[in-house]
Amino acid sequence: MKTPGRTKVAELLSLGQEGTEVTVKGWVRTKRGNKNVAFVAVNDGSTIGNIQLVFDLQNFSEQQLKGVATGACLRATGTLVASQGSGQRVEIQVADVELYGAADPDVYPLQKKGHTLEFLREIAHLRPRTNTFGAVLRIRHAMAFAIHKYFNDNGFLYLHTPIVTASDAEGAGAMFRVTTLDAKNPPVGKDGEVDFTEDFFGRETSLTVSGQLEGELGAMALGEVYTFGPTFRAENSNTPRHLAEFWMIEPEMAFYEIKDNMDLAEDFIKSLVQYALERCMDDLKFLNDMYDNELISRLQSVCSTEFVRLDYSEGVKILEQSGQKFEFPVRWGVDLQSEHERYLVEKHFKKPVILTNYPRDIKAFYMKQNDDGKTVRAMDVLFPKIGEIIGGSQREESLEKLQARIDELKMDTKTLWWYLDTRRFGTAPHSGFGLGFERLLQFVTGMSNIRDVIPFPRTPKNVEF
Ligand code: 4AD
Ligand code: MG
Repeated sequence: MKTPGRTKVAELLSLGQEGTEVTVKGWVRTKRGNKNVAFVAVNDGSTIGNIQLVFDLQNFSEQQLKGVATGACLRATGTLVASQGSGQRVEIQVADVELYGAADPDVYPLQKKGHTLEFLREIAHLRPRTNTFGAVLRIRHAMAFAIHKYFNDNGFLYLHTPIVTASDAEGAGAMFRVTTLDAKNPPVGKDGEVDFTEDFFGRETSLTVSGQLEGELGAMALGEVYTFGPTFRAENSNTPRHLAEFWMIEPEMAFYEIKDNMDLAEDFIKSLVQYALERCMDDLKFLNDMYDNELISRLQSVCSTEFVRLDYSEGVKILEQSGQKFEFPVRWGVDLQSEHERYLVEKHFKKPVILTNYPRDIKAFYMKQNDDGKTVRAMDVLFPKIGEIIGGSQREESLEKLQARIDELKMDTKTLWWYLDTRRFGTAPHSGFGLGFERLLQFVTGMSNIRDVIPFPRTPKNVEF
């Protein structure tokens, strides 16, 4: 379908024919000029580029152009002509203008250029109107599309896993409760505890931390599936890499061993980065020039290098022998911090690393146990600038071993009987992983704070927009 009533700026700039009459609708970025002519740059979100409107002041009164200022929204109709100035191929010689909405220059927060990212977070409702957030949000869209395309092209089914859940997939306990009970006066049982049988679902429920467990149910029937949805974690981590609400892509595949899982993760992430390089170059160039001069070369290098694959134990040895002073000391058995992960990736190997065979005690209950009794078949994909971008594993398919681990961790089997049924009936080797969508976007856009790659970030004490 054609866009009704206008031509988008992206199309005008790339394909617009000189001499044709066109209508553009969008928001004014800048206005300049002299007593004979006014130049107004308009952006409509379709591209990083603006279309320049040229107003011959013989044809427009001061009154007509008064509201045409930074932030205002307008329609302009006129003739597309070759641009006299440098910087754009074509511009519009305006014949007719209609102001949809003015923006008072005295109070419009984006009146001036060059705001800090911190300031823009305070006006998250308006920041999509900046070049930076336009670029980031277009790339975000392109990556979401590329993810669905990748899986569709490879025969994976998109499985919609639930948001509200009664189980804790990661066993980490950092969940947001979902309840309709009266917070001021909840029903209390004989034991003095809140009586959740009175709650909407008749039991305690939360927002999901991961769609994996349900993803496994899908894989054990449909073969190769993936989920792509919001996940929620109530951990109080105020870091540039954590959100309380983030999106996760979780493929889950029957008959995949850990090596197949690693192969998929590597191919998947390379193909997403490749897609960005092919389809988002204008936006990437802008971000590369504004924020991070090595962005594009880093993206290219990830696509063309083979990821290192290394045992956790080997990784720890390298870190111990590095002579590097880490904030958190490292030894076999500890969960790696992002400083450790980034040392391996950025200093030691200078490429992405997939670490495998982690100590079982620091990983989730569902991971396949190795014969050594100490490690599990986990895999974390570590990336430059980011640290962990993917976490996954082969899954424990033996009912006996899985049950033993659940008992050892004193987990509540009552909420997991259905998960155990997959091991009871027609179990099979299978694997999967989770890619943090915003971490991927941090890598692709070069934005160093995760709050700047999601339209409306949720972090501790922050839920305004
Ligand atoms: O390593 P995690 O916790 O793994 C899981 O949730 C598994 N159930 C995935 C699976 O095997 N299906 O999380 C996976 C990824 C991390 O590697 C990271 O990229 C991202 O999700 N992630 C977060 N992103 C933003 N904010 C947070 N608080 C995140 N926690 C995890
Ligand atoms: Mg993890």
